[in-house]
This record gives sequence, C-alpha cells and structure tokens, in this order.
Amino acid sequence: MSVIHVPVLVEEVLEYLGNTEGVFLDCTVGLGGHAEAILNNCDRSFVVGLDVDEDALSIARERLARFINEGRLKLFKSSYVEARKVLNQLGINRVDAILMDLGVSSMQLEKAERGFSFNRDGPLDMRMDKEQTLTAYEVVNSWDEEALSRIIFEYGEEKRYSRRIAKYIVQSRPIETTKQLVEVLAKAIPNKHGRKRHFATKVFQAIRIAVNNELDNLKRFLSDVPDLLNTGGRIGVISFHSLEDRIVKEFFKKESRLKQLTKKPITPKESEIELNPRSRSAKLRVAERV
Ligand SMILES: C[S@@+](CC[C@H](N)C(=O)[O-])C[C@H]1O[C@@H](n2cnc3c(N)ncnc32)[C@H](O)[C@@H]1O
Repeated sequence: MSVIHVPVLVEEVLEYLGNTEGVFLDCTVGLGGHAEAILNNCDRSFVVGLDVDEDALSIARERLARFINEGRLKLFKSSYVEARKVLNQLGINRVDAILMDLGVSSMQLEKAERGFSFNRDGPLDMRMDKEQTLTAYEVVNSWDEEALSRIIFEYGEEKRYSRRIAKYIVQSRPIETTKQLVEVLAKAIPNKHGRKRHFATKVFQAIRIAVNNELDNLKRFLSDVPDLLNTGGRIGVISFHSLEDRIVKEFFKKESRLKQLTKKPITPKESEIELNPRSRSAKLRVAERV
C-alpha cells in the first residue's frame, strides 16, 4: 500500500526553522515529510529523526535514503522522551532546532489494522509503538467506569456525556473492534448528528491519548528543551487539539529561558486546508532559546 502523508504547515516551519545550520532534532519524523523539506532547504543542516512507529520509520528510511547515504540524516526508533539519550550516543549535547509534529500520521489513520480510525473497522489497538503492551482493547475492556469517564472528560473534552458514555462502554463489553465501539457510542451519545465533528472523534481521541501517554510525554520532553537547545536555537511544536496546545503555550510562557516568537499560534491558510483537510486543526508555536 502506498501512503502519502502530506506534512502540515511546511512553509511556516521552513520560515522559522528552515535555515538551521547544525543539528536539527525531528522528534516525530513519521514518514519524513518535514525532515525532507528541512534537508532540501538548507544543505548545512544535519537531521536526527525519532519515531516510535517502526512502520513509519521504514517508509522514511526508504524515502530519505539519499540523505542517509550522504550522512545528513540519522533515524532512530525512540520516543522523543528519550531524545537526550539518543543525542548523547551521537556525541551531541545540544541542538540548533527541534520540531514536534504531534498527532497521528495519515498512514496510522489509513491502516485499519492500527485501530486509530473510527471510519475503518479494525482491532482496538491505537498504539503508536507496537512493542508497547497497553492497547485500546485493554482500556476499553478492562478500565473501570470511573477511569473511563475521567479520560473521556479530560482527554476527550467530552464534558457533558462522559459518565453516560463510560457506562454504555462497560455495559457493552466485550468490545472487540473500532466499528463495535462506534456502535456503542452511537447509542450512548444523544444529538450525535448536531455536532461539528463525527460523534466518535472525542472518545477516540481520549483513548488514543491514554494508550500512548501523550500529554505526559509532551510535558516531560518540554521540560528538557531549554537544556537541549543552543542559545538562539528554536523549537516549533505543531499540535492538533487544545489540550496539547495549552501545554505548549503555558510552557513557553512560564519558561524564562525561552522567548516566544509566535504570540498567537500559526494556523494553516485556507488553501492548505482545502488541499489537506487534516491540517484544519493544526497550530504551530515557536520559541527561541535566549
Ligand atoms: C503527525 S505524525 C508526523 C509526520 C511527519 N512530520 C511527516 O512529515 O511525515 C506524528 C508521528 O509522531 C510519532 N510519535 C508519537 N508519539 C511519539 C513519541 N513519544 N516519540 C516519538 N514519536 C512519536 C507517531 O508515531 C507519528 O509517526
């Protein structure tokens, strides 16, 4: 299967981070769209790319083989939380730019067997890292009603019906597939057709965040950033929902060693949203190490 992941906000990423001469850390290299743009834009950049998804990395390895052969790109299967370890192994203490492109890649969404999409029938999986043991199946089928309701409320921001949804899930067990989960949600959520987004969006988001520990990972990594960046080095974070954006915004604001370069987050132009609807909720924030 050929997969295309159209990277979001590429022009804007290049504007802020595209002239990095030195080490560029791509925390979420995915299929390599942003990494390729950076490498093409500036011959003097060396990119270290991390991802926890081996499938994504093997596509990136093939796509970016020429840069690997030229010695300008190194890819590692690693969580960005472990970035410091990977850099130390390369003898690198500090980098000149960092990019995080949070969220799910098109490949992860399109492959039904990964279980990320409510539009495709697959197993309840949702692991970015297939070596991890916790899956969406376990969250849906063995977490208690209180824990489910809490993640649906907090991570899904499904404030009004979180308890009701958790109750329906518990009563409908075992739930084996994404399609079965969508059917349960269809019964649990009133007025489901009056919503802007598909009625399953928020609950799927909540389960995915829980399975991959996404918000804690983001917070843990951000706290390392000031020590990882050279003076004048920049970090750009692309987020896809308000929980992530809030964490980034608050961190940039309170961290005195970083200066925000984007007072308001940068969002995609209409023309980008038209070509790539997945970009519609993207927000980019950039800060510089002072
Ligand atoms: C939106 S995609 C990135 C797409 C990439 N910028 C491109 O242009 O192809 C997000 C990627 O982050 C990866 N990811 C999620 N959590 C991660 C973590 N803790 N450490 C490293 N990568 C992670 C996912 O596996 C996914 O491939």
